[in-house]
Amino acid sequence: MNHDGEKWYDEDSEVFIKYGACFAPRREETIRTIIDVCKKYDAPFIYDLCCGGGEMSKAILASNDSVSLVALDNSERMLIETKTALRDFSDRASVAKFDLQEFESLHEYPAPHIVLSSLAVHHLSDERKRELFIFLGRKIRRGGSFILSDLFEPEQADNRIIFEEQWNRSVREASQVTFGDERAFVAFEDLDWNHYGDPNPDPIDKPAKLSQHFEWLKAAGFTNVELLMFFAGHGTIRATNAA
Ligand SMILES: C[S@@+](CC[C@H](N)C(=O)[O-])C[C@H]1O[C@@H](n2cnc3c(N)ncnc32)[C@H](O)[C@@H]1O
Repeated sequence: MNHDGEKWYDEDSEVFIKYGACFAPRREETIRTIIDVCKKYDAPFIYDLCCGGGEMSKAILASNDSVSLVALDNSERMLIETKTALRDFSDRASVAKFDLQEFESLHEYPAPHIVLSSLAVHHLSDERKRELFIFLGRKIRRGGSFILSDLFEPEQADNRIIFEEQWNRSVREASQVTFGDERAFVAFEDLDWNHYGDPNPDPIDKPAKLSQHFEWLKAAGFTNVELLMFFAGHGTIRATNAA
């Protein structure tokens, strides 16, 4: 990304609402995979942490009418977008303001079966990521899952360029499919959104390695930690509590 601060701004929300489905690699498959995990639970209650415009929450609610969820974000722009996206599910969904940096505020919600977070945990410092995993390890019901979809630092520095090129290709192709032209890719490049190609990555982006996530999730008490998908530095992990 291309701004100086340590904060997610309304302009970031605008860009993500417009082009996020093209920016996020393998978006459709990711959503399908998350839905498949949710289907393993009977009437699950879910937190969607940093829900953005509510695209994932909406897809999950539409896929299974026994799901209920709370969609949480701290961008007013995203909250408005999510309320609109979820308007047909008001009996099963609520939308609320939430700051991921102060995730302890989740204590006010009942224990979930599933916590989903997509493309947001990398905004936390490594120490806060570990604290979040410990908190969620205690908060999620026994047998429940934390689905973490995010971008990761390469294990090996010379793989960075592989992630960079895969991500560029993926955005270019998604832009053609969605818009019939390269407009999402042009925006992606103009905004230096590709973390792996940016010599001065934005201070808001603090991804850690996949191996560190595995280590921290296991240390937090998750008994099964599995990578369900991985492409262009982006992966989806399912971490499950012992039943
Ligand atoms: C890249 S978007 C991903 C949105 C959504 N999870 C998805 O995959 O479509 C990142 C989201 O994180 C939210 N966010 C960033 N920092 C946050 C914070 N400290 N607390 C809560 N939400 C935050 C932004 O408002 C934005 O909606």
